[in-house]
Amino acid sequence: MAIYNHILTENQFVEQNDLRYPFEERGLQFGDGIYEVIRVYEGRYYLIDEHIERLYRSAAAIKIHMPFNKEEMYKRLDELLEKNEVKSDAKVYMQITRGSAPRDHAFPDGTEANLYAYVKDLERPVDHLKQGVTAITHEDVRWDWCYIKSLNLLPNVLAKQTAKEKDSYEAILHKNGEVTECSSSNVYLVRNGKVYTHPAKKNILHGCVRMRVEAFCQQENIEFIEEPFQLEDLMYADELFLSSSTSEVMPILKVDSQVIGNGVPGPVTRLLQKCYETDARIPAHASAFQNLRIAE
Ligand code: PDD
Repeated sequence: MAIYNHILTENQFVEQNDLRYPFEERGLQFGDGIYEVIRVYEGRYYLIDEHIERLYRSAAAIKIHMPFNKEEMYKRLDELLEKNEVKSDAKVYMQITRGSAPRDHAFPDGTEANLYAYVKDLERPVDHLKQGVTAITHEDVRWDWCYIKSLNLLPNVLAKQTAKEKDSYEAILHKNGEVTECSSSNVYLVRNGKVYTHPAKKNILHGCVRMRVEAFCQQENIEFIEEPFQLEDLMYADELFLSSSTSEVMPILKVDSQVIGNGVPGPVTRLLQKCYETDARIPAHASAFQNLRIAE
């Protein structure tokens, strides 16, 4: 599970061991930057347009001047996979910061953005996709602009760590009882065959997979309702699931020790998982559901 050797930077590709990060760097000192995590299946990008759009939206929102335009970004990201000869399932992590400059809160004059992107093998979480996961609830103490995929992830890190300490996969975040999203994924509640999720306002990340989940619901005539739900609604949920580029569409079976629905992945979640595999062009032999009966 090695990271591939060629790392993309704003100027050139460098070998992993030659990548030196500057001491005074806005990303390190202020979290003054943005990032994306892009899924790769069998050496090809999934949802690349959505990720690039969001990356440039995040940059504009915090006034980072991108080192090159979108067209060039596509080219470089393709080169990243080619140069590393990626053939497997993987993820690309990319980060862009406001640049290197002596520490001062205000934007430094004449500083250029720093970029790096690397690719790393990543297997699909097949067992979790089949069996489902557990979650905890946690207060959402983040700022109001979570639609920006910023490097400031401390509240997310702390929430995820709390989940880990409780042997749970994710932390479902809530502000005064209103569920927003999870520490690193979006979350959905299924009730009477309808899917509910927090509206794509400024206080959640507009997930790329979330956009596809909405499209899958449309395609399958499942009502997709962008309406916030409350913590107490969890106990009336028939099903609960989360989505992200690394977790795909993942059933949640238990929250804070409370069993959701029947305690097994439900038919709506299963159907959306199947839609995901089709959309991501997962070959039949790699399907998580090969030997599972999928509710039609
Ligand atoms: N996280 N919400 C939050 C807070 C996230 O960090 C993520 C993604 C998502 C889902 O977004 P998408 O569907 O575009 O992956 C929602 C990535 C995977 C991460 O930080 O590792």
